[in-house]
Amino acid sequence: MLNLETRYLGLSLRSPLIASSSPLTASPARIEEMEAGGIGAVVLPSLFEEQLLKEEIAERSYKDYGGALEAFPKLEEFRFSAGAYLDHIRMLKSSVGIPVIASLNGATPGWWTRYAKVLEEAGADALELNIYSVPTDPDKAGADLEMETLDIVRLVRAQIQIPLAVKLSPFYTNVAHMAKRLHAAGVNGAVLFNRFHQPDIDVERLALRSGILPGSSRDTRIPLTWIGILYGRVAIDLAATGGIMETADAIKVILAGARAAMLCSTLLEHGTASVGQLREGMAQWMERHGYESIEQWQGLLSQKNCADPENFERAQYVAAVSSGSA
Ligand SMILES: Cc1cc2nc3c(=O)[nH]c(=O)nc-3n(C[C@H](O)[C@H](O)[C@H](O)COP(=O)(O)O)c2cc1C
Repeated sequence: MLNLETRYLGLSLRSPLIASSSPLTASPARIEEMEAGGIGAVVLPSLFEEQLLKEEIAERSYKDYGGALEAFPKLEEFRFSAGAYLDHIRMLKSSVGIPVIASLNGATPGWWTRYAKVLEEAGADALELNIYSVPTDPDKAGADLEMETLDIVRLVRAQIQIPLAVKLSPFYTNVAHMAKRLHAAGVNGAVLFNRFHQPDIDVERLALRSGILPGSSRDTRIPLTWIGILYGRVAIDLAATGGIMETADAIKVILAGARAAMLCSTLLEHGTASVGQLREGMAQWMERHGYESIEQWQGLLSQKNCADPENFERAQYVAAVSSGSA
């Protein structure tokens, strides 16, 4: 069998395929199936800032929190209580051999970031911090939002020794600069990118409709572009998430420079057996191309290494738009 081993956040992975944060990784049975199929690591569903805040409030019986949390789900609607989340980590650490990455999800600097320490103590091998905010205030500048993100990162980094990855939004004026600042703040990896919730409109009911759109291979173009640009320029590990549905999608993001290709929609759609198929497809591709290890081809088509680096830049956009080619 070909060697698909790699390293991500300093952790040894059996393969560069990681199950990203989703309801699937709430199930020990599904995780064991994915481990048997050759998954490299799993990221657990997120613990949310709002949930931790609500739990804290419930515990202290605060009557009034200014209504700030009312729009969020009720405590019992969250998948895990914080305590059950810790039990899940402990249980997985005794039953599976792959790295278990916990996920904290928040938007504002605050005491909830201290929960990072609790996750580390429960045995998480690394932490993925999902910083998800939808700025709607016209008076808030991008620079202020970036500073807030970095404040959250610093608060979390100060709590833990384990590796830290940040799941980022694609909406930065300069993703490369943000990645560099994250590295300076002690981040070990960037997960590109968060899928934003985008409401739809029901034109008959004249109402907003919500719901998560399933991924499609087309979605890989955005992480692929940024990973290609960042590879070799910023000293953090890069992981791709979004639209990795088929073997070719995983191969592409690794060729662009990703250390890990994260799977979500394809697992939800086709089941955990698809891990084995994707792994096998990747091994066959490596064999066809004469590669014996991931390192031999990782980043081969990053901007730094490819023969036509202008493909990542404006020049190619202008050429493509003027010639009308897709
Ligand atoms: C049902 C569902 C639940 C998810 N829950 C989380 C979560 O709790 N935390 C998180 O960081 N990402 C979460 N995600 C995002 C996925 O981890 C992934 O980044 C995103 O779906 C893009 O990958 P895909 O195109 O393969 O689905 C969720 C996605 C789905 C579909």
